[in-house]
Amino acid sequence: MAISIGIVGAGTMGAGIAHIAALNKCTVSLYDINEEVIRRSVERINFEMKRSVDKNKISDDDMKQALTRIKKRTNINDLDTCDIIIEAVLEDIRVKKDLFKKLDQIAHHTAILATNTSSLSVTSIAAATKKPERVVGMHFFNPVHLMKLVEIVKGAKTSSETITQTIAIAEKLGKKTIVTKDTPGFVVNRVARPFYSEALKILSENVTTVEEIDRIVKKSGGFKMGPFELMDMIGNDVNFSVTESMFQQFFNDPRFQPSHIQKQLVEAGMFGKKTKQGFYNYEEK
Ligand SMILES: NC(=O)c1ccc[n+]([C@@H]2O[C@H](COP(=O)([O-])OP(=O)(O)OC[C@H]3O[C@@H](n4cnc5c(N)ncnc54)[C@H](O)[C@@H]3O)[C@@H](O)[C@H]2O)c1
Repeated sequence: MAISIGIVGAGTMGAGIAHIAALNKCTVSLYDINEEVIRRSVERINFEMKRSVDKNKISDDDMKQALTRIKKRTNINDLDTCDIIIEAVLEDIRVKKDLFKKLDQIAHHTAILATNTSSLSVTSIAAATKKPERVVGMHFFNPVHLMKLVEIVKGAKTSSETITQTIAIAEKLGKKTIVTKDTPGFVVNRVARPFYSEALKILSENVTTVEEIDRIVKKSGGFKMGPFELMDMIGNDVNFSVTESMFQQFFNDPRFQPSHIQKQLVEAGMFGKKTKQGFYNYEEK
C-alpha cells in the first residue's frame, strides 16, 4: 500500500519533500498555516517537475500522476490518517514544540512524527509529545529533489523501530541516509558552519566583495556554489536562525557566532532568492 505522508509547512523544504514523495508514489497531504503558500508551493512543484520532463528525467505521465497524489490541506486535522508527518516550519523551538504538541493529539497512534530541523534538539521537540519514541529528525537538504542525503536523527527517546521505519521511508523516497546523534547541527550543518561564517567575516573585514568570494571559492575550490549564493538559496532567515540556534546550543562558542551583516539582511526582509533580494538581486533574473 502507498505510504501516506503529511507535510506541515509548505515553504522551500515542504514543497521539495512533497515533490519527491509524490513522484515516488506516496500520497501527500500538504499543509501550511498560509493557504496562499500551499498554492504557490504546488505551482513550484509543477514548474520543477516540468523541467525534469523537459530534461527527460521523468515522463509527462509520471508528472501528471504525481501531481494527482498531492492534496492541499488547510485543516491540520486532515493529517490524522498519515503514516508519517514531516514538519518543515520555522527554525524556532517554541513554534516546533507547539506544533508537535498538536500533532501528537491528531496523528494516528502508530504514525511517525518527523522534524526537518537543521539544528534544533529533536529530544526537546519530542518532549512536547506523549510518544517521544515515535519522534525523529529527518533532515533533508535543499533542493530536495536533487540532494541525495537525509540525516536521520535519533533523539534521546527515539525507538530503534522508529529509526528503522524512517530509514525505509527515506529510501522509498530515493534517498541515502546516515543516522546521527542528536547534537546541534548534526553532521552536515556543523561541518558547513565555518563555510558561511568565515565568508561573512572576510566580507565584514572588507577583504573583498561577495562576488569575488563566491567566484574564488567556485573557481579555485571546486565548489558548485559560493557561500553567499548558497545562503541566498537556503534563505538568509533560515540560515541565520540555524547559526543563532547552534551558537546558543554550544553555549556561545565563538566558532558559531552569528554575523551582523546577515542579521541586517534578515531585518530588511532580504532573505535571498525567495524574496528576490539577498546578497544578490534576483529581480530581473
Ligand atoms: N532552506 C533550507 O535550505 C533548509 C534545508 C534543510 C532544512 N531546513 C529546515 O526546514 C525547516 C523549514 O525551512 P524552509 O526553508 O522550508 O522555510 P520556509 O520559510 O521556506 O517555510 C516555512 C513555512 O512554514 C510555515 N509555517 C510557519 N509556522 C507554521 C505552523 N505553525 N504550521 C504550519 N505551517 C507553518 C510558513 O507559512 C512557511 O510557509 C526549518 O526548520 C529549516 O531549518 C531548511
